[in-house]
Amino acid sequence: MAFQIQNLEGSALLAFPEKKSMLLSELTRRFSAPLKDAVHYGDLIYLKDFNEVPYFARTVMKKPFLVKFDSIGDAAAALKNIQRSWAPYQYTCFRRGQLIQEKLPYVNLKNRNFPVKIPSSPIGLYTLIDEHTMIASAETTSPLPAGSLIFNEDHENPPSRAYLKIQESLSLASYFFNTELPGEGSRCFEAGACPGGWTYVLVNLGSEVYAVDRAPLADSLMNNPKVKFEAHDAFTLLPEQIGECDWVFSDVICYPERLLSWIKLWLESGRTKKMICTIKMQGEIDWDLVKEFASIPSSRVVHLGYNKHELTFIHVEP
Ligand SMILES: C[S@@+](CC[C@H](N)C(=O)[O-])C[C@H]1O[C@@H](n2cnc3c(N)ncnc32)[C@H](O)[C@@H]1O
Repeated sequence: MAFQIQNLEGSALLAFPEKKSMLLSELTRRFSAPLKDAVHYGDLIYLKDFNEVPYFARTVMKKPFLVKFDSIGDAAAALKNIQRSWAPYQYTCFRRGQLIQEKLPYVNLKNRNFPVKIPSSPIGLYTLIDEHTMIASAETTSPLPAGSLIFNEDHENPPSRAYLKIQESLSLASYFFNTELPGEGSRCFEAGACPGGWTYVLVNLGSEVYAVDRAPLADSLMNNPKVKFEAHDAFTLLPEQIGECDWVFSDVICYPERLLSWIKLWLESGRTKKMICTIKMQGEIDWDLVKEFASIPSSRVVHLGYNKHELTFIHVEP
């Protein structure tokens, strides 16, 4: 076997596709990271003095190393020696990368159908830099191949593409907090539900949905007996008026400050233990405010692959 491994300091951060500028902005504004020393491999950024986990990295190589190898077989052997499962992020030498992946143990890199169970086994990440060198890490921050969860899309039935966001956030909620998805017998409250992508997913899982928006949902949902619709400002309806809910959702476009106080209102009311809310960013991100969302106990803040200029707040109490 002809390969050599050289451990590296720091970490390598993989941006979401077409969102590298968001990651760079977070590195500068949230972490004051020394970007002049950054080494760029396509959407992968290696920083030798950085060990944090930014929201806008879809996965992070936590313990990166360089592998110098002679052949495709040597590259695969170097990785297999360390751990079973590896996924690629390639920006160059695509054919060679594909041949290396074929020599590694099978990992499902295909698009998924919802609902999906995210596996908890570790998955490494590797990236070819040239024909005989790759950067890799067995330890990564995401259980998903290259930090990506991509669904097979349904272009006909859901009334908006936003359904992909709730599919991704529910999959992550279930993974992070080991919780069941909403289903038969669950009562959900949804703020800002029009035209109904999220409602569509929830009723298809079997839940009942109390949906509030100023505008009505798609007809198919308005006529669905599992959906109760109310035309109202969702933020002026109090938890006491709505009652106990298994899950509370919001995809309302509003200032993050307003969302934060609404989330606190619900959690303090004790009328729900599970919330998923989109935090819509207005211009530059206020990182101190994001910290307030993230510091609510039993909560995670994530950037979804299907989010735009947004973060997603996920809260699940035991
Ligand atoms: C991004 S859209 C929601 C898309 C929806 N999640 C879907 O899957 O189709 C945001 C919605 O929030 C609604 N909205 C904005 N402010 C609101 C408020 N204060 N109360 C209720 N709905 C509001 C808007 O009318 C809009 O329909």
